[in-house]
Amino acid sequence: MNIKKATPGFFVTGTDTEVGKTLVSGALLLKLQKTYSQVAAFKPVVAGVSLIDGKDQNEDLVTLSQAANHPASKDAKNICPYILSTAAAPHLVAKNQHIELDDQLMIYSYHALAEQADAMVVEGVGGFIVPFNKKKNSADFAKDIGLPVILVVGMRLGCINHALLTVEAIQARGLKVVGWVANTVSSMQLLEDNIESLKDLIPAPLLGVIPKLNTEEITTPYPLKTLEKVANYLQLPK
Ligand SMILES: Nc1ncnc2c1ncn2[C@@H]1O[C@H](COP(=O)(O)OP(=O)(O)O)[C@@H](O)[C@H]1O
Ligand SMILES: [Mg+2]
Repeated sequence: MNIKKATPGFFVTGTDTEVGKTLVSGALLLKLQKTYSQVAAFKPVVAGVSLIDGKDQNEDLVTLSQAANHPASKDAKNICPYILSTAAAPHLVAKNQHIELDDQLMIYSYHALAEQADAMVVEGVGGFIVPFNKKKNSADFAKDIGLPVILVVGMRLGCINHALLTVEAIQARGLKVVGWVANTVSSMQLLEDNIESLKDLIPAPLLGVIPKLNTEEITTPYPLKTLEKVANYLQLPK
């Protein structure tokens, strides 16, 4: 019998929505291509589409699609089984559209892609625990696929509490935090001191500090150049 070993990869979560998960996921996809030949991206659900290159598309999926090099990642439908049009909490958008998000379909779609790829980067949805339906949430999905977790900390006031709560929630599910990234999303007072405190408090290595990027660099979907730049600030977990 031919049993394929589980595909390596990372689940990228964040201290909140809009903290840089897509930015870091895109950079990790590029970085992993130095070690693995075919790297694929996945995201269980996205909410919000806008006109990009003349088509209704989701920004995160466009970024992930261009950064991944596995051929299936070139089609957004393979990266994400649920592309919802309204930018709001996914379970509420689904309810409005009279559909229920099927967590089993998400897991199935993930494995369908992971089976073909050499490595995976999965971008989480919002913060760590975002509801999908009445029973399941994004943390359950992370547990089901079992990938080691990278936490993106959006460096802003309140991030220490958010980071520590998230680490507890990840560990409570038996998952491993293999590293964290300090992403400078704002001009924060005492930035360095905050990073030092987080280094002491998070029981996983700091994989990199991403500086505050300028306006052209952070147009979304992210330009490949930005992802390449960010990749240079990151280390892969050992
Ligand atoms: N290093 C950074 N410097 C400046 N702005 C950033 C940086 N990282 C992220 N941002 C801003 O935060 C927004 C959200 O980033 P994104 O990667 O989409 O986060 P998430 O995937 O967690 O929602 C970006 O559109 C950008 O405006
Ligand atoms: Mg995102």
